[in-house]
Amino acid sequence: MNKKKIAIFASGTGSNALQLIKHFKGNPNIQVALIVTNSSKAPVIKLAQENDVPFSVVNKSLLSNNSYMTSLLNLYDVDFIVLAGFLLLVPPFLVKIYNQKMINIHPALLPKHGGKGMFGMNVHQAVINSGDSESGITIHYVNEMYDKGKVIFQANVKVDKKDNAEKLSKKVQELEHKYLPEWSEKLIMQMRYI
Ligand code: GRF
Repeated sequence: MNKKKIAIFASGTGSNALQLIKHFKGNPNIQVALIVTNSSKAPVIKLAQENDVPFSVVNKSLLSNNSYMTSLLNLYDVDFIVLAGFLLLVPPFLVKIYNQKMINIHPALLPKHGGKGMFGMNVHQAVINSGDSESGITIHYVNEMYDKGKVIFQANVKVDKKDNAEKLSKKVQELEHKYLPEWSEKLIMQMRYI
């Protein structure tokens, strides 16, 4: 059976991208085939280079160009997309092509603390400000709206009284690094039999 190919879309540091790359290294069924980023300055590019993963910088206008994106993803035979800190809204044509084959990880318990502008430290600060006693991660399918697709998995973490946004982000990141690779693998393996 052919290997399933993942594209990771990431705009920033890429710590989740790195976990995915490590997780699938040597996997006979699944391969990280491409990293897509919207910023030529994103540290995730260095990470792609260090790990011999092809990458492509796609700005907002290219991202919304159907034939450009379709050709790019076909070139690398991309079966499944993981958004890991990708800041641009995914255009509807990609949502359609990758229906149930594109997931996002959000660093809070959706539907709380999601939507446009809710990324990075903004999310953790919002959790602290709201006085919530727990936060966590949400892995969900991607639809046309930020953070609104069907939830696949959530894991919780306690917010301590002495936590600030930074401390909370570290706890949440541990969950992300554990569960995003595991769930990506699980969903892709399920897909192989559909
Ligand atoms: C993560 O917190 C993820 O949940 C969110 O963006 C962040 C990306 O972090 N969508 P990194 O670039 O993988 O370190």
